[in-house]
Amino acid sequence: MSDRSDQRIAVISGATRGIGRALVDVLAGQWGAGGTVYLTARRAEDGVAVTAALRANGRNVDWLPFDLDDSGSAQRLADTLHARHGGVDVAVLNAAFAPRDDIPAAAQARRMIEANNHGTLRFLNAFSSIMRANGRLVVVASGFGVLASLPENLRPRFDTNMRSASAIDRSMDDYVVAVETGEAGAEGWPEWVNIPSKVGQVAVTRAFAREWRGNGRRAPGVLINAACPGLTLTDATRDLMNTVFKGRTAQTVEEAANGLMPLLTLPSGTGEPDGELVRHGNVIPFGN
Ligand SMILES: NC(=O)c1ccc[n+]([C@@H]2O[C@H](COP(=O)([O-])OP(=O)(O)OC[C@H]3O[C@@H](n4cnc5c(N)ncnc54)[C@H](OP(=O)(O)O)[C@@H]3O)[C@@H](O)[C@H]2O)c1
Repeated sequence: MSDRSDQRIAVISGATRGIGRALVDVLAGQWGAGGTVYLTARRAEDGVAVTAALRANGRNVDWLPFDLDDSGSAQRLADTLHARHGGVDVAVLNAAFAPRDDIPAAAQARRMIEANNHGTLRFLNAFSSIMRANGRLVVVASGFGVLASLPENLRPRFDTNMRSASAIDRSMDDYVVAVETGEAGAEGWPEWVNIPSKVGQVAVTRAFAREWRGNGRRAPGVLINAACPGLTLTDATRDLMNTVFKGRTAQTVEEAANGLMPLLTLPSGTGEPDGELVRHGNVIPFGN
């Protein structure tokens, strides 16, 4: 049964902690009684606990399970929300496997690409068709996710004007093989696994938005974008502040959430950005 009311519905994935949890808090605070914000969790105990904590703070929230490592999870999540509400107004892929800099790339690239890259395409495929009119579908990526992060020879693989989202996504498997066979350095891939992954994630989102724009199945006014939250102190970055992010200052999760809000709440009838990477409301050029 679908919910026929005009209540707004959002889903923020990976919201047990970090930026995702803060984003649920901020969006639910802004919507008040006018909507429900679903957070997702991998473990029921986390979903129940975070939901209870936010409800105690007056937030109109609920939770559903979602696991990037489970290839059917995004579709089940979308199906559940479609059955309950007939669609969603805001869907955010924020959940991500967090790589560590003290583990060799070869030991974590496959898991990371499977979750964060193939998982992104699964999420886009599952949610694009249930976005309500003027819906906002957002993939939280990173400012690393631009062509300038890669040497010239690798950039054609991420040509979002010429290549399909699924072809770009499949290219990420070539990256995994290159890492595992020790060829990645010679091919020009950056050593830090997060960089190829984020370039692929943004490229897939851009190509997907372009394809989806032309296929006639998009509800009117739906916008699909990637976002960079900006460097934020979370469990994912705490151990990297003296290495990967040495000398840089990290914002709080509340600041990151507030910076993402303009993209999630673009007014109805807005035509752009679409297929872009956006940080704090400003488009970061992808490079093609
Ligand atoms: N922090 C930054 O400076 C920064 C900068 C640029 C981009 N980002 C991006 O922003 C997003 C949030 O980052 P964060 O720093 O808030 O990360 P975080 O503190 O590590 O939180 C990650 C969230 O994702 C969930 N998650 C992890 N693996 C998952 C899986 N396999 N399936 C489903 N959920 C999973 C975690 O749930 P559990 O509690 O179950 O582990 C947690 O809720 C990520 O996409 C990240 O790449 C962050």
